[in-house]
Amino acid sequence: MTATAVVGLQWGDEAKGKIVDLLTSEHDIVVRYQGGNNAGHTVKFDGQTYKLSLLPAGILRDGITSVVATGVVINPKAFLAELDGIVSRRGPVAPERFKVSDRAHVIFPYHLAEEAVLENSRQAEKIGTTMRGIGTCYREKAGRTHAIRIGDLLYPDLLRSRLHEIVAFKNQMLAALAPEFQPFDADAIFAEYLTYTERLKPYICDTTAFLHHAIADKKRLLFEGAQGSLLDLDHGTFPYVTSSSSSGCGIHSGSGVPERTISRMIGIVKAYTTRVGGGPFPTELNNEIGQHIRDVGHEYGTVTGRPRRCGWFDSVAAGYGARISGIDCLAVMLLDVLSGLEELKVCEAYEIDGERTTDFPSHVERLAQVQPVYRTLPGWKCEISHIRKVADLPANARRYVDTIAELLNSRVEIISVGPDREQTILG
Ligand code: GDP
Ligand code: IMO
Ligand code: MG
Repeated sequence: MTATAVVGLQWGDEAKGKIVDLLTSEHDIVVRYQGGNNAGHTVKFDGQTYKLSLLPAGILRDGITSVVATGVVINPKAFLAELDGIVSRRGPVAPERFKVSDRAHVIFPYHLAEEAVLENSRQAEKIGTTMRGIGTCYREKAGRTHAIRIGDLLYPDLLRSRLHEIVAFKNQMLAALAPEFQPFDADAIFAEYLTYTERLKPYICDTTAFLHHAIADKKRLLFEGAQGSLLDLDHGTFPYVTSSSSSGCGIHSGSGVPERTISRMIGIVKAYTTRVGGGPFPTELNNEIGQHIRDVGHEYGTVTGRPRRCGWFDSVAAGYGARISGIDCLAVMLLDVLSGLEELKVCEAYEIDGERTTDFPSHVERLAQVQPVYRTLPGWKCEISHIRKVADLPANARRYVDTIAELLNSRVEIISVGPDREQTILG
């Protein structure tokens, strides 16, 4: 049985989209299992760039079935706009090759309004969310009282009465918290979502049953993680996390496919570290080197366009991500971005209270206090984007990748030296 999972080991944007696209040809089904349109996965091939947010990267290849599973939160408007964009560039997507879970939860306009109120009310550093209503929809799911799932859209009478009850509650709550707030109209939302439902209907199904049948039929599954392990709700740098299980831990709960089905868990890391949004970042470079990495790596958010915070590779953080997710091997991405730097630093441990540790702190206050202990490595001068074999990499680039492997106690199977599908070195 072949089930592969691609998970980010840092704070997201590790270039998971590129690797999922690369591996799709060896699989039959690509599954998104958590997150929503907070994700932005870039795929480049044949001179084309695709930015995927809610749709699995499998949607770009013929003959592949894409599944948006139970653990995802879906904004139907954003979802259909993305689908339309793909259809206009690549042709129709038949329901046989695209499945959307009836158990996935639905994002409504009041989730976005509520998120803005919550973020603005925070006295401490802001979480810096993507403002897509992701956290407020997951909050609804955990709270149950006001949650609506994709399957509920198929029962219009039920949906109308649920919306009337929920919208009345939200209007009252939001009016009390934000005086400028314009109340929502339950009937208008109902009418809008009915039109979305008509278009979504052909794709909606019990994706858990679909995946179980696929496994019984020996289909090859590829799980596409969104966000990264350090943004995991339970295991990440809480509260500066997303609201889903974005490490490997989320695959089982988000898809209904048991963990043991996965035979190859690939941990994706950038050759350095980036982070969007708030929260501590021990190896952050608030200097010209950080700006250089941002410029060369085009480190601006795919979803929000925000500049990504950039820093040295942090093996304590990524190593923790790797242990939570239980990786079998590594893909080291964006190595080319580091070309030309005189010397490179890799964080191999943290120092706190006069002690050295490779354990990742469980509290952000403690993480904010650590001092990174760096190993300094010589850089390489030449361009590497054209290289396709490990042996052809400059010795210092090989040494750099070997250091990441050593510190994460894993094997590097893929090295990426450019955004294009072709710019890949398979180990
Ligand atoms: P994801 O969210 O993990 O899929 O990653 P993003 O797509 O948000 O960010 C990764 C960015 O790096 C995208 O713009 C990719 O096109 C780009 N990219 C991927 N691999 C490489 C690489 O090896 N080198 C360079 N220079 N860019 C890359
Ligand atoms: P991909 O899949 C990087 C970050 C946000 C914010 C925090 C919470 O492209 O790697 P949310 O809107 O999810 O409640 O925001 O999580 N975040 C991401 N950072 N890549 C992502 O996705 C992200 N999705 C959310 O910036 O700090
Ligand atoms: Mg991204």
